[in-house]
Amino acid sequence: MLFQYSAGAFIYKKSNGKVLFLVLQKIRRGTEHNEKRLEYDLPKGHIEKGESAEQAAIREIKEEAGLSVSLVPYFHEATKYFFYENRQKIFKQVKFFIAKAGNDKVRISDEHTGYEWQEYGPAAQKLKHKDLVKLLGKVYDYIKRTEAMEELNRRYAELPHGAKGWQLSKNLVPGEGRLDSQLMVIGQAPGKNEDIKQRPFVGRSGMLLDKLLKKGGFNRSKVYIMNVVQFFPPENRMPTDAEVELCRPFLEEQISLIKPRYMILLGNLASMTVAGIGEVQSNHGKIIEKSGIKCLITFHPAAALRFRGNEELMISDFRKLKQDIAK
Ligand code: URA
Repeated sequence: MLFQYSAGAFIYKKSNGKVLFLVLQKIRRGTEHNEKRLEYDLPKGHIEKGESAEQAAIREIKEEAGLSVSLVPYFHEATKYFFYENRQKIFKQVKFFIAKAGNDKVRISDEHTGYEWQEYGPAAQKLKHKDLVKLLGKVYDYIKRTEAMEELNRRYAELPHGAKGWQLSKNLVPGEGRLDSQLMVIGQAPGKNEDIKQRPFVGRSGMLLDKLLKKGGFNRSKVYIMNVVQFFPPENRMPTDAEVELCRPFLEEQISLIKPRYMILLGNLASMTVAGIGEVQSNHGKIIEKSGIKCLITFHPAAALRFRGNEELMISDFRKLKQDIAK
């Protein structure tokens, strides 16, 4: 069997507050009575040697639609199918991304005969393959989440400018990961490295967390990771109750936007704030249901940096959750 790997994209733009998808049009000539049929598809094509799937998608978009785009971070989904060519069975996988068009000056290649910008409903009716129609629903949901999260982060980033006596850093360290993750990992507050890079868990605690998650059966690229307080507290101090309360509405909004089925709560602050459970030392490994979400109570990785023995406890807590998910 031969394998072929391609990449493509759902391209969208915003117009008058509406999400519009780009569909490319091709005229197909039938064999009977020379009838013509319009078919609609998305830009896609082979991943060339030395190219990543992302690079291939961006190149195909440029070649087939003449557009410069930015890919929506973290999202990718694949369609898989078989077909026969010269009696040879070929397995094809197409990795799809979501691309936001910087402008709407479409310039199609000879491969297509036209294009349309369509809202979700009509776009779903036009696409030829069932797999693509199904994926379009997921893509539409993901775009709405992306826009809502961007808007939330814009408001959250403003918080230091409106609050009296603000003592935390003014750099927002937003959560990161797939916005439709089943699993959310919640820490305390960013550290110095996170403040500089404006990304959560990228310092020593983050490196250890990645390693422990992996040993526990999880992969960071599949989870959404964030902090209760998303601004660095100077000297790495514990955020005050007042600071937690200021950030709580954003935390709650983020949880309801992502709608995870599971959460890992790292350390006392996350366990207390989200699940109302303190004393991680005696409660770690417990899985507690909160508003329909199963929450694992465990140590903060900084506690495992201080006491190596906590590493093994964290791994076994993670494995417990992994088993619960597999049930
Ligand atoms: N500790 C945390 O709680 N969060 C980070 O992002 C980094 C360190």
